[in-house]
Amino acid sequence: GKVRAPTHIVSTICDDRGEEPTYAGVPISNIIEKEFGVGDVISLLWFKKNLPRYATKFIEMCIILCADHGPCVSGAHNSIVTSRAGKDLVSCLVSGLLTIGPRFGGAIDDAARYFKDAYDRQLKPHEFVETMKKKGIRVPGIGHRIKSRDNRDKRVEFLQKYARLHFPSVKYMEYAVQVETYTLTKANNLVLNVDGAIGSLFLDLLVSCAMFNQQEIDDIVEIGYLNGLFVLARSIGLIGHTFDQKRLKQPLYRHPWEDVLYA
Ligand code: ACO
Ligand code: LMR
Repeated sequence: GKVRAPTHIVSTICDDRGEEPTYAGVPISNIIEKEFGVGDVISLLWFKKNLPRYATKFIEMCIILCADHGPCVSGAHNSIVTSRAGKDLVSCLVSGLLTIGPRFGGAIDDAARYFKDAYDRQLKPHEFVETMKKKGIRVPGIGHRIKSRDNRDKRVEFLQKYARLHFPSVKYMEYAVQVETYTLTKANNLVLNVDGAIGSLFLDLLVSCAMFNQQEIDDIVEIGYLNGLFVLARSIGLIGHTFDQKRLKQPLYRHPWEDVLYA
């Protein structure tokens, strides 16, 4: 019989050997004919599933709402400084992306992990928060530099409103809201932030849409797919900031001495 030489690479998401590539088995001609959006393409290439429209629309909302948050945030600041140092687009983009992490934009996976663990163990919100405090861990998905009880994050409100209307269940997000209610008794800026909203709502999507088995959900949470949503979204803004600086012919940036405490 035929002997198949062992391959060095195994790949399961895209096949480019035929006349046209297929994304998780779906030919790109179908994708175009059926007017799939970027949410559908993410579903196919990340999750290998044809997710229902309410889910792909949610993914698209996350991308749209996290595309940018002004020039002052860590990522945009880095991209702007790099652009003004005369560097190329890819360098500017990655210099911004490299700031995404546990404090900025990259708390989505940990928010999903901690909220899931606390909810599944039926911890009362105050028990969860106090346990985290004892461990010296800030609750991922809680807290913001400029958003507060009186200056709510519209992105969070849009996502919550959409999910309450369209998701079969929002139990993890409602748990995160109860956590927020408790943290707000400690300080005004300890709101549920956009990372926490996406993390908890994506959990709700995974467990309630009936297209993921338990192993798949565990893998998604453990591997950490969800920060990818922020990375992808914010790339749009970082590229925009890079072009903006070049268009404006901004000179090399040097931070002013007056703004440094030379101690
Ligand atoms: N959980 C518990 N307590 C907190 C949290 C939190 N998530 N955030 C702040 N606090 C408390 C702490 O007591 C902190 O004191 P400490 O420094 O001794 O630990 C105190 O508030 C002071 O906090 P702030 O001065 O408001 O902190 P800062 O403005 O530097 O933090 C930040 C903002 C980084 C977002 C913070 O709240 C945090 O680390 N949150 C968790 C990570 C997270 O969700 N990041 C995503 C933010 S949204 C985005 O980037 C798109
Ligand atoms: C963001 O989306 O970049 C922000 O929520 C972070 C910030 O400090 O505004």
